[in-house]
Amino acid sequence: MATPAASLVAEDRPFTRLPPGPREPRLLQTLRFAIAPYAVQDRARRQFGDCYTVRAFGPPMVVFADPEAAKEIFSDDAAVLQAGEANADVLAPILGRRSILVLDGERHLRERRLMGPPLHGERMHVYGRLMQEIAGRVIAAWPVGRPFPIHREMQTITLDVILRAVFGLDEASTFARVRAPIVRFLKMADSAAAPFLAIRQLQFELGGLAPWGRFVRDRAEVRRLLLAEIARRRAEGTEGRADILSLLVAARDEHGEPMGDDELLDELFTLLMAGHETTATSLAWVFWHLLNHPDVVQRLRAERDAVGGGGPLAPEHVARLEYLDAVTKESARLTPVATNVMRRLQQPARIGGRDLPAGINVSVSIYGTHHRADLWPDPERFDPDRFVGVRPAPHTFFPFGGGVRRCLGAALATYEMKVVLAEVLSRVDLRLAPGYRMRPVLRTITIAPSRGMPAVVERRLG
Ligand code: HEM
Repeated sequence: MATPAASLVAEDRPFTRLPPGPREPRLLQTLRFAIAPYAVQDRARRQFGDCYTVRAFGPPMVVFADPEAAKEIFSDDAAVLQAGEANADVLAPILGRRSILVLDGERHLRERRLMGPPLHGERMHVYGRLMQEIAGRVIAAWPVGRPFPIHREMQTITLDVILRAVFGLDEASTFARVRAPIVRFLKMADSAAAPFLAIRQLQFELGGLAPWGRFVRDRAEVRRLLLAEIARRRAEGTEGRADILSLLVAARDEHGEPMGDDELLDELFTLLMAGHETTATSLAWVFWHLLNHPDVVQRLRAERDAVGGGGPLAPEHVARLEYLDAVTKESARLTPVATNVMRRLQQPARIGGRDLPAGINVSVSIYGTHHRADLWPDPERFDPDRFVGVRPAPHTFFPFGGGVRRCLGAALATYEMKVVLAEVLSRVDLRLAPGYRMRPVLRTITIAPSRGMPAVVERRLG
């Protein structure tokens, strides 16, 4: 059904008085973003300041790199600024129409109430041993003296964490059968087929031969397997199980209603897609910074030894690794994997001192705000000490977005990253692959270091 906002989009009339912004043809702007995603934002800010309009595909998008505007957008009435509608074009065909990422209003809040508790920060230590075990097995297979793409290895770890900690797939056969189609899809999303998955006009099936057709087939297979798993949990009961799927099966809304099967399946797919690539890419960035800053690695190892008393590190020690926490934050400040969050404006509103019409997209630039010299002195320098014992000023640091849409997996991702980094630092000495020249590149929806961030194991430790 066409909303008033949608009809405004079709008319495109009130959009002439938006803040100025890049004027290149839409296709060129899209290509520029794909090729040099950070540089495009630097250039726009140099040229137009901390508020500008991007006219690529879809409605115009007014971008703010401004804590005041971020505060207004993150705290605004969710009925005025809707993220679900802004996300739906790209994400609904992939994740499903019941995914939390494409819902707005009361339906979105219901999903948050159901999904929030299982993903709550205090529960994360439950998964510590499992994460350590998964990371340990992957690291043990790394070759010594030969370059390998560390990003791909991080994807293996984060995918297995989702399948085992989130889905609780502990039976080897189910695990392998669910994993195979997912890996096929992720490979396609990393290849030249990616536009055929992300752009609606290119999503044709061709009897299962086109990339979209293969995805639809694989997704149906994953859904079938997960449905059988859900039925098993419903039948056997979930008592004593700590995985997030079991907690979601057991969850009840305020009317005492459980989640339906289709709802559960869409949310599981969402957790898989939203949770695995983002965390793997964030880890790849931390390695890029660490391998360029041996002094930081030394400090991390000293902290690890001090906290662990020289012995193996227990998962409960992770909370005490303050410098490691600062390192992951500084990496997320300098090289955020999500550069922007977006909302669709449902009615005219004044944001960041600008009067804006209904129907446009409004975006907070995570990257732009994290790079402002007035908020972050010498912003291009990697300096974890910015975060040691310091709380960033409000609305200046938000790698996980904000307000009622803030990332539900932030605690899981943050904890997992620290467990994995601590394992790697304890087990191997790494260096960058010789001759590697890093470029930030767009991979489906995240910004990553190019070529999978090739690294070399110099020696094994211990
Ligand atoms: C370092 C890793 C991650 C980063 C950088 C990240 C970043 C983000 C961002 C920027 C948003 C949008 C927030 C907004 O619109 O204001 C988001 C939403 C979301 N993320 Fe994450 N994420 C990460 C990991 C995860 C993980 C591990 C999961 C779950 C397993 C997850 C689940 C979600 C969900 C469900 C939403 C939608 C929330 C809503 O619409 O209410 N994310 N994430």
